[in-house]
Amino acid sequence: MKLWGGRFTSRADEIMEQFNTSLPVDYRLYKEDIAGSLAHVKMLVQCGLLSSAEGELLVQGLTSILHDIDNGDLVIEGDYEDIHSFVEMHLTERIGETGKKLHTARSRNDQVAVDMRLYAKNKAVEVMDGLQTLIDSLHVKAAVNNVIMPGYTHLQRAQVVTFGHHLGAYEQMFKRDKKRVGNALELLDENPLGCGALAGTTHAIDRDITTSLLGFAKPVDNFLDGVSDRDYMLELMSDFSIIMMHLSRLSEEMILWSSQEFKFITMADAYSTGSSIMPQKKNPDAAELIRGKTGRVYGSLFALLTTLKGLPLTYNKDMQEDKEQFFDALDTVLDCMEIMSKMIDTLQVNADNMKAAIKAGFLNATEVADYLVAKGTPFRDAHEIVGKIIIYCEAEKKAIEDLTVQELAKFSEKIADDIYDYIDYENILTKGNKGIMREVGK
Ligand code: ARG
Repeated sequence: MKLWGGRFTSRADEIMEQFNTSLPVDYRLYKEDIAGSLAHVKMLVQCGLLSSAEGELLVQGLTSILHDIDNGDLVIEGDYEDIHSFVEMHLTERIGETGKKLHTARSRNDQVAVDMRLYAKNKAVEVMDGLQTLIDSLHVKAAVNNVIMPGYTHLQRAQVVTFGHHLGAYEQMFKRDKKRVGNALELLDENPLGCGALAGTTHAIDRDITTSLLGFAKPVDNFLDGVSDRDYMLELMSDFSIIMMHLSRLSEEMILWSSQEFKFITMADAYSTGSSIMPQKKNPDAAELIRGKTGRVYGSLFALLTTLKGLPLTYNKDMQEDKEQFFDALDTVLDCMEIMSKMIDTLQVNADNMKAAIKAGFLNATEVADYLVAKGTPFRDAHEIVGKIIIYCEAEKKAIEDLTVQELAKFSEKIADDIYDYIDYENILTKGNKGIMREVGK
């Protein structure tokens, strides 16, 4: 069933119908589609392009369709080209001839553009909420587990940090992500309804009315751009990709930390799975899936960038492909954020294992050098001296703090008893500019 056909003499081939329809994908725009139509009708009445009786009938019809879809009495299916055709044809079926006036001064090109902007606006807010939940989970976990752990560079034990400070790094990433989505939201907040197919309309419509009814900040400035702009989807999908990249890095760390080699954390059973052959296994599948799905979101971004790159102005049917990519990227990022928050909430921190790893890694070597510098040794010389101490410790299988002051003094006569206090792992964290880690749990 189609909204057009006047200039056609034969039906489309069945396979073409299936190839062309977007209903199985864009059904989820029904709320936005009806909201756009309601605003359009009210505007047409105010501009004298429809009588108030016609307007009322259209509003009633559209509202009843919305109501019936919401409560399951009207299922979105059938032989329709897209959600716009579905709603309009059901409207005419319900209210008769007046339904045919709905599309006055409108094209599906500005209709789909406004539907997607409204949808993107709502969903961007949902993504920001998901990010906030994640930020809160990280914050709480960090606050109650601010225990010392090894910090790494090159995945080699480097210096002492705290688990709280480590999680705090991710908190910062997700805070930036939230700002990014907020920026995208601000940029996309323009109303394309009224651009028509590409060049406006000869009817004296008022785009300011639909703009305020739909809650947009302003109407778009250019008709051609209004119907062909999909930048905001790309921008949001770039933001989703960055979010996924952050989630993937965190997942990678959780996978490492929960391994037998690290044992820094224990993941809750609820977010782990077993092996069909190895009875002892508990696998971090949720984190692995998040890491894996990152590729899928990047893929959606690249698919849409590629779809758009050669398109002449204005609307081209290629653009219908935007929805599948956008929806998939959106669903994926929303799911992954939720799962990650729950994994964080339920993971257990093995503080003793983190502490043991610190002891084995010479994580106070930099501070031994700092100690020597504080006593007047130039840093380069101090670095060299500590290097020699490390060789000695490795041969003796001892940590630096396990050496006697006599042993240490062989490397530099500046070393005295006060060194032990200076290089104590927890003391380190309150020195100099490391005050951010003052709240170290014991
Ligand atoms: N289903 C179409 C899409 O998603 C709606 C717009 C159709 N416009 C057109 N001129 N055929 O892009």
